[in-house]
Amino acid sequence: MSDAFTALKISERVYWVGAIDWGLRNFHGYKTSRGSTYNAFLILTDKVTLIDTVKPQFYDEMMSRIRSVIEPSKIDYVVSNHAEMDHSGALPRLAKELNLKKIVASPKGVEALNDHFGMGDALEVVKTGDKLDLGNATLSFIETRMLHWPDSMFAFLEEEGILFSNDAFGMHLATAERYADELDPWIIKREAAKYYANILLHLSPIVLRLLDKFPSYNLDVKMIAPDHGPIWRQDVGTVLQWYRDWAEQKSTNKAVVIYDTMWQSTARMAAAVGGGLTDGGARVELMPLEGAHRSDVVTELLDAGALIVGSPTMNNQIYPTVADVMNYITGLKPKNLVGASFGSYGWSGEATKHLDAMMDAIKVDLVQPGLNVKYVPSEADLAAGRELGLAVAKRIV
Ligand code: FEO
Repeated sequence: MSDAFTALKISERVYWVGAIDWGLRNFHGYKTSRGSTYNAFLILTDKVTLIDTVKPQFYDEMMSRIRSVIEPSKIDYVVSNHAEMDHSGALPRLAKELNLKKIVASPKGVEALNDHFGMGDALEVVKTGDKLDLGNATLSFIETRMLHWPDSMFAFLEEEGILFSNDAFGMHLATAERYADELDPWIIKREAAKYYANILLHLSPIVLRLLDKFPSYNLDVKMIAPDHGPIWRQDVGTVLQWYRDWAEQKSTNKAVVIYDTMWQSTARMAAAVGGGLTDGGARVELMPLEGAHRSDVVTELLDAGALIVGSPTMNNQIYPTVADVMNYITGLKPKNLVGASFGSYGWSGEATKHLDAMMDAIKVDLVQPGLNVKYVPSEADLAAGRELGLAVAKRIV
């Protein structure tokens, strides 16, 4: 096939040779409205080294970019920073076609690559502090266990100050530009936050430990090259500070209200709760789940102080769309939130009880027991909704 794609030189000896997935809209349940990239990096040192690969269906694109600067058979080593298949999926075919003799990964990475693909003898373990001699350059390694898989690892090209950070500091964003500083700052922060909220939020204590320990590695980081989205060069300190802020999840005066509705009763209550929050001085994000996706809800929670959830009772349960989002939130474990629930019912009213139990389980501090409305909210019910909003506002403003 013809080589339709070219590599982009990002430093003296490093080229971006990844793939752009313009059409991606769903990344295991995370809505990727702006697509994504799978970044792979080629280091043209004495030992030619490839950092990570791409999803299997983007193999040809990656190879085309590699061929634009070097004959692929000249690749000596592959570093696999993470075994998830958006970065390792093209590896088995690459290893076979190039007859690769050396693929390095963390201890858990070697295990995972074998479990996925049965990679065999070419795999070699590297641990934190280990170095890989590339002849006229050196790669060093830091294991970043559980950020976000047990195998995750950073590689650092010492001579050029490039940190290949895999998923960390990445975002799902398909663009023709390769650097964060070339793009709209609002979109960059929004997509980086969305990535953190959906992938790393529940691992925040580990993120904080890594950020605290990072200076002790004495790395002169000039560039962070993640495996998704743009590369950080002028803004290395900015993204590190964002990660600290998001990991700390300090409470703010923002309340996120999520709800769905069957016959507008819960929607009317949501409006009343929102009104109370606004009157109480809180910032409000009202998110009807007919239009809001679970991955946008957790992104809003990243800098919130309150979570308020509304659901009709349906078949004695939480309404399905609300249950879906609550299940997702439960796994991602947001911290430092106060909360409350409300909902409508006809002949039983279990939804708010279930919601309160779910919030209690993830340590959301409930301001009051769930507020239930029979069939259609009366003026008194709407006033109680407004009071609920005011009570939450009092806790976060
Ligand atoms: Fe981008 Fe955890 O894979």
